[in-house]
Amino acid sequence: MKVAVLGATGAVGRTMLRILEDRGFPADEIVPLASERSAGTTVRWRGRDWTVRQPTPDAFAGCEIALFSAGATRSREWAPFAAGAGAVVIDNSSAWRMHPRVPLVVPEVNGAAAADRPLGIIANPNCATIQLVVALAALHRQSELRRVVITTLQAVSGAGQGGIDALNAELAGGTAEDSPFVARIAGNAIPWIGPRLEDGWNEEEEKIRAETRRILNLPALPVAATCVRVPVETGHSISATVDLARPLSPRAIREALSGIEGLVVSDADRDPLARDVAGTDEIHVGHVRSDRDLPGVVHLWIVADNLRKGAATNAVQIAETVVRSLAESHG
Ligand SMILES: NC(=O)c1ccc[n+]([C@@H]2O[C@H](COP(=O)([O-])OP(=O)(O)OC[C@H]3O[C@@H](n4cnc5c(N)ncnc54)[C@H](OP(=O)(O)O)[C@@H]3O)[C@@H](O)[C@H]2O)c1
Repeated sequence: MKVAVLGATGAVGRTMLRILEDRGFPADEIVPLASERSAGTTVRWRGRDWTVRQPTPDAFAGCEIALFSAGATRSREWAPFAAGAGAVVIDNSSAWRMHPRVPLVVPEVNGAAAADRPLGIIANPNCATIQLVVALAALHRQSELRRVVITTLQAVSGAGQGGIDALNAELAGGTAEDSPFVARIAGNAIPWIGPRLEDGWNEEEEKIRAETRRILNLPALPVAATCVRVPVETGHSISATVDLARPLSPRAIREALSGIEGLVVSDADRDPLARDVAGTDEIHVGHVRSDRDLPGVVHLWIVADNLRKGAATNAVQIAETVVRSLAESHG
């Protein structure tokens, strides 16, 4: 099977190649695509060097799957070509996430939605949304969600290779010429991710609200996020406050979250930390508390590797679902 990887040289694309290898994805050929800057360079995959090309209308010929992580503009431009060539596109950008005919999928929560893809495109949610909804879905099975308030502490790799380079340049004592951040990130915390909207919210905060409602199929759920960029290389942390219709004890919450596919509940005295969680594919939950004053309100700390489960792992898991269903329909 042939798999196209658009954005193969980026932070997510490189992780995607690693995860296709790690999970033994049943592909034997890749088509790595990136910008003019990388055309002619190579990426290493399954012990071989593969030459990177710029996308063209015929680049997707013969591909069954196309994994996209090259930004929303490129996704809008190239997804119709890839889908037209017969590939199922799994897109990491925000381009298609709220399109009514494109499913927005986290396999542990709404994996079945991937089967209904009239445009041949499946959207991968925002990185922080993915780790949040897996925990929320588990709580919602026990007690109806009434309101969600979160603060995210998001790693610089969430802004791609440019974010990692900016932090490293600043930590080395220099300045980052092309920093994607609105202020120096080393030694700082910046509550500004994505453009600021007219009403004062940042685009990342609105993405989390809209996507969470869509994936959980709770269109009226109040979700308020404050998204903060922090000088961590990889691993997003979320402090979540969740209002439940029926109060649950911390023990009941821990039990509800344990045994959920893809979720790891940390011991009460050992909270998950971004540094430890980086490189893993699970979503780690800890520091579970019932509010001391408000019955039904619980507080959680949710951490995941934004490049893996927040992007590449989730996309490859979707691809695995698609391949299984294609094999069933052919066989
Ligand atoms: N980083 C995360 O944690 C994360 C999580 C979820 C979703 N995403 C989404 O994934 C996408 C990529 O993010 P990233 O973090 O991997 O960014 P990145 O490190 O900046 O990588 C961007 C990739 O896109 C390629 N690209 C740029 N312009 C292109 C063009 N005109 N034609 C073809 N390829 C082009 C780049 O190629 P060159 O190397 O040649 O420039 C590179 O391979 C974004 O849409 C982002 O929102 C990221």
